[in-house]
Amino acid sequence: MILKTYDDIETASKDAAGLVSDRIRKKPRFSLCTATGTSPTGLYRQLAVIVNSVEQPLDGLRLIKLDEWGGLDDDDPASCDSYLRRHLLQPLRLDSDQFIGFSGNTDDPGQECDRIDARLRAIGQIDLTILGIGANGHLGFNEPGARLTAECHVASLAEMTLRHSMLSDARAMPSYGLTLGMGNILRSKEIVVLVFGAEKAGVLRQLIDGGITTSFPASFLKLHPRVHCFCDRLAAMELS
Ligand code: GLP
Repeated sequence: MILKTYDDIETASKDAAGLVSDRIRKKPRFSLCTATGTSPTGLYRQLAVIVNSVEQPLDGLRLIKLDEWGGLDDDDPASCDSYLRRHLLQPLRLDSDQFIGFSGNTDDPGQECDRIDARLRAIGQIDLTILGIGANGHLGFNEPGARLTAECHVASLAEMTLRHSMLSDARAMPSYGLTLGMGNILRSKEIVVLVFGAEKAGVLRQLIDGGITTSFPASFLKLHPRVHCFCDRLAAMELS
């Protein structure tokens, strides 16, 4: 894992956005899997600035939503769908058919996971995945536990996850999560992970200094050959 530490989130996000735009420019048919939450917001803002300033063609870009709150309507302001439309689809002027993702409000969440797994198989290997890390070490909604799941699945959400700030303006509380699995994530050709703020200092310390364990799913990133971890000084303050 390549760890890059910056003075502030803005500079880290700008550098990370530079890496992402560079990869997209070099491969016209590009599949990009995207997390939501506070960690990637600056990256997405900077990516739109870079891409729009050079009028980079994006017709071959496919955006894959990493996860979704189960039980929320797609147009709920707190859904991952709304977040990605606001922060990526609209600023990058992508069509809806360039966007692949779980619907949060479905009668059959298991079938919805099978549908997304089939779409992922049709795409082949994801080119790049952008991740944040949950306060409990989760990736997407791959929550800590005795075992992890490789493919798309319905996840029970940890109590800490249900306290996420994204849900503060939700119209309903989610009852489960829909998420790409650890195998889907780890099969990406390349991964960018963003860890910012003093509240993530313990998470970054465990990622860098801890062992690989299902009780801290982000630790599996250590098995991947091309992970770029961008952090700020505050998140890095507990590193030796
Ligand atoms: C949520 C999202 C994840 C995200 C994580 C971290 O649970 N489902 O995709 O990466 O929280 O969020 P934040 O970046 O706001 O800390």
